[in-house]
Amino acid sequence: MSSSKKVRVTETVLRDGHQSLMATRMSTEDMLPIIEKMDDAGYFSLECWGGATFDSAIRYLNEDPWERLREIRKRAPKTKLQMLLRGQNLLGYRHYADDVVEKFVEKAIENGIDIFRIFDALNDVRNLTASLDAVKKYGGHAQLTICYTISEVHTTAYYVDLAQELEKMGADSICIKDMAGILTPFAAKELVTSLQKVLSVPLSVHTHATSGTSQMTYLMAAEAGADVIDTAISPFAEGTSQPPTETMAICLHEGGYETELTIPLLEEISDYFKPIRDKYLKEELLNPLMMGTDPKALIYQVPGGMLSNLLSQLKQAGATDKYEEVLKEVPRVRADLGYPPLVTPMSQMVGTQAVFNVLTQERYKMVPNEIKEYLRGAYGQAPAPIDEEFRKSIIGADEVIIDRPANHIEPEWDELKEELGELAKSDEDVLTYALFPQVGKSFLEKKYGNDFSGSTNNRKTTSPDTVIKISAIM
Ligand code: CO
Repeated sequence: MSSSKKVRVTETVLRDGHQSLMATRMSTEDMLPIIEKMDDAGYFSLECWGGATFDSAIRYLNEDPWERLREIRKRAPKTKLQMLLRGQNLLGYRHYADDVVEKFVEKAIENGIDIFRIFDALNDVRNLTASLDAVKKYGGHAQLTICYTISEVHTTAYYVDLAQELEKMGADSICIKDMAGILTPFAAKELVTSLQKVLSVPLSVHTHATSGTSQMTYLMAAEAGADVIDTAISPFAEGTSQPPTETMAICLHEGGYETELTIPLLEEISDYFKPIRDKYLKEELLNPLMMGTDPKALIYQVPGGMLSNLLSQLKQAGATDKYEEVLKEVPRVRADLGYPPLVTPMSQMVGTQAVFNVLTQERYKMVPNEIKEYLRGAYGQAPAPIDEEFRKSIIGADEVIIDRPANHIEPEWDELKEELGELAKSDEDVLTYALFPQVGKSFLEKKYGNDFSGSTNNRKTTSPDTVIKISAIM
């Protein structure tokens, strides 16, 4: 649905901007003073929750993510608040039972979320249904997402079919999500044009500036009729983040597009965030290298975050000389697995398998458990069929799930609540625990325990399992 010459803007500084540039470490304290101004600026929505914000808040910032959401909501009564939700994974790293999914959505709406951008790493729509149903039930806006990737099966026709299916399922809007920054300008033009021919709900486009094409991509998308684009206010723009809000707004206005944004207010918001960016630079939480441009993602069609992750895995193994070989192995592993989009968790799984294949000098001699689970169908359906001989060679005669994976998960809400015991002071607490059992529990212990007054801010420390989080690609 393309209204004439109108493009609205979602501001990402409160979520994807700082997640992409500095591992999601911006504190609530640094956000709140500017929210009222942001509420007046004319944004379509403020993306401010979900993705890695929840994990980071409890793990590094000793902050209650629910509290952050309520505080933002209080200061932004007019603008829609938006979150990123990983379908049946919610914000965690496994599939949850439907009762937990429903409770999470109910509480997210109650605490302030309007728009849920819901995606599944494999574009398996069955992994979206439980959250979609819950968003509808509790009166939210369900934006269903196409994870954009490039492969022989990910053709324009594939995306058109997928978008139509999402609309038929009840999507209130659709998002093209280019987590890797590989949606080039002319590809965007073709894709948006084709989708707009068949869609009657609004279309959002989300990209990253990593490879240097993002402003061109958005301009082409706008010309092709995109309804909403995602940008970050300039101090937290560019590099692995989104293109700058002010720049896009000025250029779109010049081209006769109405964005409803007020440029002087954007300037004030930008002026507010500049010293905050500088503070994080000084604390070395923000690495200036992240703000540069790296077109390698376009050459290898592998997200930038995944490239650096592969290199660090090889460094640990003392095998950086194998980098080129691993880069060649990535597309082969991806083909074996039916071309999954390289987004969390698939990017980590494919990357690790490629490293194993090269380092052991025998393909699939070592296979991570996650890959076995994937081949057992636990993550959902692969975009392209997987060769049965190959599957058998990895998982033998194990049974393969062919229906919706969450059908195999028993309700778990009551059990989780019971497990948490006295610390379960609210449903929100139970959800915090459900999403991140260890970190969530120790966060709640601090929150309700005696040591709460002590200095518990540990945002500079890293634990082994943060390696995956830091390189999370979304
Ligand atoms: Co993103």
